[in-house]
Amino acid sequence: MNSVLLASNRGPVSFTVSDDGELTMRRGGGGLVSGLSGVARDAGVLWVCAALSDGDRSAVRQAPGGRLDQAGYDTGALRMLDIAPATFHRAYNSIANSTLWFVNHLLYDIPNAPVFGTRFQRDWESYRDYNGAFALALAEEAGHGARVMVQDYHLTLTPAMLRAERPDLRIAHFSHTPWAPPEYFSLLPDEVAREVLEGILGADHAGFLTGRWAEAFMDCCAALLGAEVDGAARTVTHEGRVTRIGVHGLGVDGKALWARAGEPDVESHMAALREQVGDRKLIVRIDRTELSKNIVRGLLAYREFLDAHPEWHGRVVHLAFAYPSRHDLPEYREYTASVQRCAQEIEDAYATEDWDPLILNVNDDYPRSLAAYRMADVLLVNPIRDGMNLVAKEGPVLSPRCALVLSREAGAAAELGADALLVNPYDVSGTAGALHRALVMPEEERTRRRARLEAAATALPPQRWLAAQLDALG
Ligand code: G6P
Repeated sequence: MNSVLLASNRGPVSFTVSDDGELTMRRGGGGLVSGLSGVARDAGVLWVCAALSDGDRSAVRQAPGGRLDQAGYDTGALRMLDIAPATFHRAYNSIANSTLWFVNHLLYDIPNAPVFGTRFQRDWESYRDYNGAFALALAEEAGHGARVMVQDYHLTLTPAMLRAERPDLRIAHFSHTPWAPPEYFSLLPDEVAREVLEGILGADHAGFLTGRWAEAFMDCCAALLGAEVDGAARTVTHEGRVTRIGVHGLGVDGKALWARAGEPDVESHMAALREQVGDRKLIVRIDRTELSKNIVRGLLAYREFLDAHPEWHGRVVHLAFAYPSRHDLPEYREYTASVQRCAQEIEDAYATEDWDPLILNVNDDYPRSLAAYRMADVLLVNPIRDGMNLVAKEGPVLSPRCALVLSREAGAAAELGADALLVNPYDVSGTAGALHRALVMPEEERTRRRARLEAAATALPPQRWLAAQLDALG
């Protein structure tokens, strides 16, 4: 039986299966997994996650009780849940990614969406079942009085379900996303909004990445549940139970990042990139191709910058890495196409025989991303809204001279705002101006700001973040 457990939709590894049935294991992507993989393993935590693909399902089916570590994979203690594909698909794509993600990132095109009808109700049932499958697995695996850390918007109902099953457990929930203000959160059907809030309040401790998201959550509890909120003490009391609210700004492990970024595969990507761009200045962005990351407006800003500053033609290159994400959703496929269209327009307007103003790459290549960080003069991070954004934290650690252009709507702005060039993510002209200021920032100022950004980015590395979560549970 385990004394510390962690649950999340995506696990630290995923599998692909080749035509001849052979399985290949890869590291999982996204902020949550990059932050927690190393530490969960070192701390001997049992991680419970869902099988996301056919490859994952084949791996699980060959593992006793879904325990991949016991089937010989080098994953750390890991149980993967083989949830029925239709249930998984509705819970993950329809509810988690098309509803809760959209609500908390304010992504809806309001005149047309959302539409909550019978289809939504069916999908919501699946989301309940999926959360129930996690609660059941955790209840089976947890020792008496164990501490369980439930992660993110995929699993908002699990804390209350698990508490009903196992009142002896100490349960935390952590949101890696922003939280919507009550007037936007209440787009959800009333009973669904209640169920989400009460699901999280089933935990003893509900954690957020910044004070702003924690406050929005407490505001929703007060407005929609009539719960008693003590903003100063950060507690929510509802139906006689108290949930403590915590703010833990997940940061990066600078040493580990440097160690990885110094490996030969990264060095050879650096050499190749250098070959490609020569001694031109580099504006870098690295994202999932994600609606909230605001890649199109970032490209439009670069275009305006080129329009306004012909003196930079031939002297700067924008490296935009936008690796694929959530392609089961039509909005994401369309978004990827508009990113590509916008990039092509920039090429058509500005490229010359010997200058490529923009290199857009849509494949995931972790060592190449690390190489780009190391070479960046400017890092552009301009999300519409973001829980934290670890790219904004990784860049200043790895680049000796990068200036950070950062959206004020990213959680990271709370910690990095003083030394970044903050932008309104909708203001393309403002962002273009910030790109220019970042490029011409004097050397001494850039060094000073970067050092402070690095210190802030590494203030709460994942080891300490995890320890803080556990301490909060007593
Ligand atoms: C965000 C979420 C994570 C999620 C990641 C990648 O960082 O907070 O929970 O894992 O995006 O998204 P995906 O849908 O590919 O897991």
